[in-house]
Amino acid sequence: MWTVPLFDLNYDDREMQAVQEVIASRWLTMGEKTREFEKRFAEFLGNGSACLAVSCGTAALHLALLAASVGPGDEVLVPALTFVADSNVVRMVGAKPVFVDSTSADDFNISPGAVKAALTPRTRAVIVVHYGGYSCDMGPIRAAIQESGLSRKIYLIEDTAHGPGGDYKGTPCGTIGDVGCFSFFSNKNLSVGEGGMLVTASKTLLRKAGHLRSHGMSSLTLDRHQGRALSYDVVRPGLNYRMDELRAALGLVQLDKLPRANRQRFEKVKRYRERLAGTSGLQIPFSSWDLGSPTHHIFPVLLDRGIDRPNLMQGLKEAGIQSSIHYPVPQDFSGFQDQQAAETPIARDLSQRELTLPLFPTMTLKQVDLVCDRLQSLLAVASK
Ligand SMILES: Cc1ncc(COP(=O)(O)O)c(C=O)c1O
Repeated sequence: MWTVPLFDLNYDDREMQAVQEVIASRWLTMGEKTREFEKRFAEFLGNGSACLAVSCGTAALHLALLAASVGPGDEVLVPALTFVADSNVVRMVGAKPVFVDSTSADDFNISPGAVKAALTPRTRAVIVVHYGGYSCDMGPIRAAIQESGLSRKIYLIEDTAHGPGGDYKGTPCGTIGDVGCFSFFSNKNLSVGEGGMLVTASKTLLRKAGHLRSHGMSSLTLDRHQGRALSYDVVRPGLNYRMDELRAALGLVQLDKLPRANRQRFEKVKRYRERLAGTSGLQIPFSSWDLGSPTHHIFPVLLDRGIDRPNLMQGLKEAGIQSSIHYPVPQDFSGFQDQQAAETPIARDLSQRELTLPLFPTMTLKQVDLVCDRLQSLLAVASK
């Protein structure tokens, strides 16, 4: 349907074969492949992290909050400019999401200064999102928490849905805070359809999250199948957020491909940046960002005020080019009207002007050029 889709899978025979092997093994859920995926993902990140494979990124975030005992009466700081999963999980555990503004028109990430200002004695956790795979400025955020003088532990949770393979000043994203939460949804840098990973160096959080992932049970079906356990205890109420073997097998192949796939994304981003530099009607964010290696999950541009975004997206669509928006602000959602949320003017402004252009590892430079040509001609008319 699209000449240039927003995203396309980086799949080939290796993924096909991996899935066939699992079917032939006759073990479909949380078995050896899942364990191997967890082990290999932990090795990939390094930094002493342990991994729990889960059914999606939202499950990882939910487990992180549950393991940190976040609940009613607690506040959790959440960036206003992110996917709604972050504030949804906060509300699902009965806590209050406190929306925090972005830094600037160049750095869309959560503002460390605004984090500092939003901390209160009720704050139990801070969720940060490495927008587009550009890491947040974690040093000042951590310092704000440490220097707040607040007596209870405030958990720092990294939503690393956009950031597998990225780093902040040399430290892998997802291993900087208390917990890292990855998503392996179809359109992510590492994609398995639905899947996620919870990463932590804390043995206590890992043990709790491990139980919560599988009904609070002390042993798994695999343990019993392999004769390691005859029965089980239930140590706390839990959920079923397990990953299955098919997705773990896909994850292993995708993990092997990830470093190259991220470099392939970067080639496209360089071309976009060269081609779009100086284009009237837009600016390219994260131009002065120098905090590490980004993963280039998406390619966002910021349209000038007054440019009719829906019209521009329609013009791209007519040329077979898919585009998107990351993200609407939660203050506007009908289901969030009871939240008495503070305004976040920078995030709101970005949300109204951001446009996401196609980006994926197998995209050709010719496709990048096609997008740039069309966008520039539409903007030339729109800016008049
Ligand atoms: C920033 C962010 N957080 C959380 C999620 C939720 O992940 P999932 O769809 O795997 O539940 C996503 C992606 O969908 C995301 O982009």
